[in-house]
Amino acid sequence: MAYLNDNYLKLRAGYLFPEIARRVKAFCDANPESAKRLIRCGIGDVTEALPEAVRLAMHQAVDELGVRDSFRGYGPEQGYDFLRHAIAQNDYRNNGLDVADDEIFVSDGSKCDCGNILDILGHNNRIAVMDPVYPVYVDTNVMAGHTGEADASGTYAGLLYLPCTESNNFVADVPEERADVVYLCFPNNPTGSVATRAQLESWVAYALKHRALLLYDAAYEAYISEPGIPHSIYEIPGARECAIEFRSFSKNGGFTGTRCAFTVVPKTLMATTASGESHPLHPLWNRRMSTKFNGVPYIVQRGAEALYSEPGKAQVAALISHYMGNAALLRQAAQEAGLHVWGGVNAPYLWVRTPEGVNSWQMFDRMLHEANVVITPGSGFGSAGEGYFRISAFKSRANVEEVARRLKTLAHRA
Ligand code: MLT
Repeated sequence: MAYLNDNYLKLRAGYLFPEIARRVKAFCDANPESAKRLIRCGIGDVTEALPEAVRLAMHQAVDELGVRDSFRGYGPEQGYDFLRHAIAQNDYRNNGLDVADDEIFVSDGSKCDCGNILDILGHNNRIAVMDPVYPVYVDTNVMAGHTGEADASGTYAGLLYLPCTESNNFVADVPEERADVVYLCFPNNPTGSVATRAQLESWVAYALKHRALLLYDAAYEAYISEPGIPHSIYEIPGARECAIEFRSFSKNGGFTGTRCAFTVVPKTLMATTASGESHPLHPLWNRRMSTKFNGVPYIVQRGAEALYSEPGKAQVAALISHYMGNAALLRQAAQEAGLHVWGGVNAPYLWVRTPEGVNSWQMFDRMLHEANVVITPGSGFGSAGEGYFRISAFKSRANVEEVARRLKTLAHRA
C-alpha cells in the first residue's frame, strides 16, 4: 500500500494562478466574443522580448555546444563560476556588500527555491508570513506539514500571520511573539510596498535576538526607484548571520519562461540542530542542490551572464522603465477613477481597494465580465487581502492604455 502526503489534502482550492486561469477559461469558453478583447493583468508574467544581449549570448552558447571541443554536459549543480562571479560582483560587491562567489547558488527560479529551502530546515520551526502573502510561502509549508488545517478564510493553523494593512502601509512590524523563520518580500508581492532601512534593521535585530532565519525574497529589487530603499537584506549589518536572499532574472531580464534565478546563502549563517548545536546552513544547501538538482542549462546561464554586460544593463533598464511607465499610467487611471491605490512606484504591482461593498472575487468577476480585464483578487493572497485587488503592470503599452480606459469607465459606475 502506498500512502500519500496527507498535507496536500489541506491545501485550499487550487494554487491561486491556476485557479484564476480556470475561471478565465470558463468565461472565455462561454463568451467567445468578449474573450477576443480580454487583457490579462493577473499573473505577473513579463510580455516584452528577451534583451538582445541575452539572445546574442545564448546563440553563441548554442554554437559552442555544437562543437565537440567546446561541448559541455552536466554543469556544476550550484551554477557555473562565470555566472556566480558576475552576480556576486555586480549585485553585491560593487555595492559594497560582502558576498562571495560560492555563496551564490544559481537555480531555475525563486519560486522553486522558496519552496525547496524547507528541505534544509527542521519541522519544528514557528513560521511567520505577512498577510497578504505570496501564496508559495504558505502552500509549501502546508505541503511540508508545518501547519494545521485552513479555516474558512484560508488561514492555516500554526502559522503566524502578520497583517499588512493601510495603517502600517502594508509593511508589518516585528511581532512581540517569537518566530523561528520569517518570510519577507520587498518590494512586496502583492502590495508593491517597500521596507525602509529602519524597518529592515528592526527585522534583522529581531532575527538575531531570537536566532531566527529571515527568508528575504528580493525578486522585484530592480523595480526600486526611490533613493534610500535597501535593495538587499545584506545592506543591513548582521544580515549575513540571519538571512538568506532570493533573487531572480524573471522580472528584470524577462526570464519567466527562460528560467534562471539565484539564492544567496552566506557561509556565516547558522541554524540549530535538534540537539541544540549551531551548524552552518551553507553546506546543507550545497548538498541539497548537488543531490536534487542538475543545474540550469549552460545556454541559459550564458544568457543570464549577459544581463551584467554594459548593453545588457542598458536593456534591463529599458525593460524596467517600460513596465514602470505602465505602472504609472495604471496608477493614474485608477486614482482618476476615484480608487485608492498603493504600489506601482517601487514595484510593478498596484494594490487597489475595491469599491465599497464589493469583495475581492466579486471585483475579479466584475473586471472579467464587464471590462474583460483579468486582475488578481486580493483575498487570494490571504485574509488581509480581502477588499483589495492587484493589477500587474507587465503588459504592452497599448494594452495598458486600454486597461486604463476600461478601468475608468468601470470605476465610474461603481
Ligand atoms: C505573481 O503574479 O505573483 C508572480 O508572477 C508569481 C511568481 O512570480 O511566481
